[in-house]
Amino acid sequence: MPLPLVLITHTLPEDWMAALEGRVRAVTGPVDATRFDPALETHLPEAEGIFCLLTIPIRADLLTRAPRLRVVSNMAVGYDNIDVPACTARGIPVGNTPGVLTEATADLTMALLMSAARGLPQSANDAREGRWSTWRPAGWLGMDLSGATLGIVGMGKIGKAVAIRAKAFGMRLVYSDEVASPEIETAVAAEKLPLEMLFRQSDIISLHCPLTAETRRLVNAETLRLMKPTAILINAARGPIVDTPALIVALRSEQIAAAALDVTDPEPLPPDHPLYSLPNCLIVPHIGSATHNTRRRMAELACDNLLAGLAGRRLPNCVNPEVYQ
Ligand code: GLV
Repeated sequence: MPLPLVLITHTLPEDWMAALEGRVRAVTGPVDATRFDPALETHLPEAEGIFCLLTIPIRADLLTRAPRLRVVSNMAVGYDNIDVPACTARGIPVGNTPGVLTEATADLTMALLMSAARGLPQSANDAREGRWSTWRPAGWLGMDLSGATLGIVGMGKIGKAVAIRAKAFGMRLVYSDEVASPEIETAVAAEKLPLEMLFRQSDIISLHCPLTAETRRLVNAETLRLMKPTAILINAARGPIVDTPALIVALRSEQIAAAALDVTDPEPLPPDHPLYSLPNCLIVPHIGSATHNTRRRMAELACDNLLAGLAGRRLPNCVNPEVYQ
């Protein structure tokens, strides 16, 4: 039996992918692929598995060109880049990598939150550029986290890990989600609120929901208007949850105080994008899960999902388990 052919959209460190050795025939895309590589396209008719990153759309038309496909494995917890209903209709299981990136993403969220609350980018720039002439009692003033209200939108694994960290900083916690999380309400005294009240009450809002039809542009001109003028918005979830033009207006007019974004819409953000010109907006290039251990574990879990799918076993992490019914 020939080994199954799999298309790996990007070149990843060899040791992360060791589990695939001798078990698949792999065709691999370039390290910085920004789209499904044309060289991989030619192998679609034979491909039995796809291993992809969150930047590569896997849509119905691509699936049609892959009649032998038996598994799609996304090296990410979010899977909005994949047309899951189209995979399900074909009986193709889709894998993702939850759990292993929870702590790293929560850590990065806190880094953004603290940087924005204390104005680190601006004050670091001032120091570097010679504007640190003296200790200024009323200069570089930020927000106290202790006693401030953090509104978490989406109380999943990452939202909970952020809540636990924020509690240790003395923050008051409120959250919005479709489902209640009694254990986190007990653990950190978080209060579940309707979204509108969360927007009105929070000093800092942090987004941790998936990107879906319901959450797309959940932060928009209308919801931004509900926020306090001193409030900060953190997005380490998905860029399109925020309406970018509306955020620019709100930041420019100081309708809200600041934003810190690990994800943007569009993504990547082109170098001349107006968001970069706003001193009250901190932007980092989608690095929520970017630690050595976490990225390795994500790749390993994505390999496990891929191999399980090729072997006809249930994926360790499957986003469309209905394919097994
Ligand atoms: C990162 O954004 C992920 O979804 O894993």
